[in-house]
Amino acid sequence: MKSPRSVGAGRPRVLVTGVRGKTGMPLARLLVAQEGVDVLGGSSNPTSVDIDGVRPTAFSWNDPSGWKAATEGVDAMYIVRPDRADAPDLIGALLDETPAGARIVLLSEQDADYMGTDGWAPRAEQAVRDSGHAWTILRPSWFMQVFTDPRFYRDQITDGLLPFSSGGASLAWIDARDIAAVAERALRNEEHAGRVYELTGPEALSLPHTAELLSAAAGRTVTVRELTIDEVVDGTTGFERELFALTFERVRAGSFAQVTDSVERVTGRPARSLRDFLADAGPPFRHGI
Ligand SMILES: NC(=O)c1ccc[n+]([C@@H]2O[C@H](COP(=O)([O-])OP(=O)(O)OC[C@H]3O[C@@H](n4cnc5c(N)ncnc54)[C@H](OP(=O)(O)O)[C@@H]3O)[C@@H](O)[C@H]2O)c1
Repeated sequence: MKSPRSVGAGRPRVLVTGVRGKTGMPLARLLVAQEGVDVLGGSSNPTSVDIDGVRPTAFSWNDPSGWKAATEGVDAMYIVRPDRADAPDLIGALLDETPAGARIVLLSEQDADYMGTDGWAPRAEQAVRDSGHAWTILRPSWFMQVFTDPRFYRDQITDGLLPFSSGGASLAWIDARDIAAVAERALRNEEHAGRVYELTGPEALSLPHTAELLSAAAGRTVTVRELTIDEVVDGTTGFERELFALTFERVRAGSFAQVTDSVERVTGRPARSLRDFLADAGPPFRHGI
């Protein structure tokens, strides 16, 4: 493995891909708060990046011709894995263009090798391991932000419904801000190189228990509607359908139920509970938390 340049030396430059997303935005804010860090906010729509102290940077998985410019001079890079079939190849190609000394933090997912090492998620991780860069892999459980994001469950929850396919399994929901806090440490400190962190919240909750907490926070009863996997994937096609089906198969198998203390071990403070997250979000669940 090539040795990384010290991110603490000079004015370290960090590229955060997916800067408008659930982990990218809080990560960028944490990095900006560190004096002297040059934070590049990667987005396929850079004109809409509006985060104090962050330099909007054109970065699209659809446009490899822009990767050289986006990664020029970076000391570290946070990669939000694109959920598409060619993600392993894209990540490998991006890292070929990235300065050799740059430290890489990849956002993967909990229990990524459930399907064995030939699966899509481990192959995306392998692209990072094989790149020659110093790397850290983050494997988080499901984000609590799916409850506050209008692209996921927010509107259904505020209407009193949580449609999901758990098969009775629990999930150790994690606050994306805790993932960001771990990413920030891993981008800046070489002690995290070569580490794979399975990241979870402090407890695994069944769907009925999750719905109880959502009900209390929403000020109305939220009812779980247990779906089959076929119902969940209905209306999706191609790779999205495959990934959705596999993800819910893994939910039902308990892939996201294992609780770890990695957030506390890396950041020095415990992971946020769902109760605290929801109290922070406040009804009717502000977006962006
Ligand atoms: N959500 C969960 O519970 C969960 C749990 C475990 C793992 N994960 C993994 O975490 C990753 C992020 O998922 P998420 O749902 O939370 O999404 P997200 O980070 O909230 O949003 C996706 C990001 O991708 C960016 N993006 C979209 N099209 C792009 C393109 N063509 N090129 C470059 N960037 C593009 C978007 O920003 P712009 O539009 O600004 O480009 C956005 O910031 C995925 O790999 C997912 O599998 C998610």
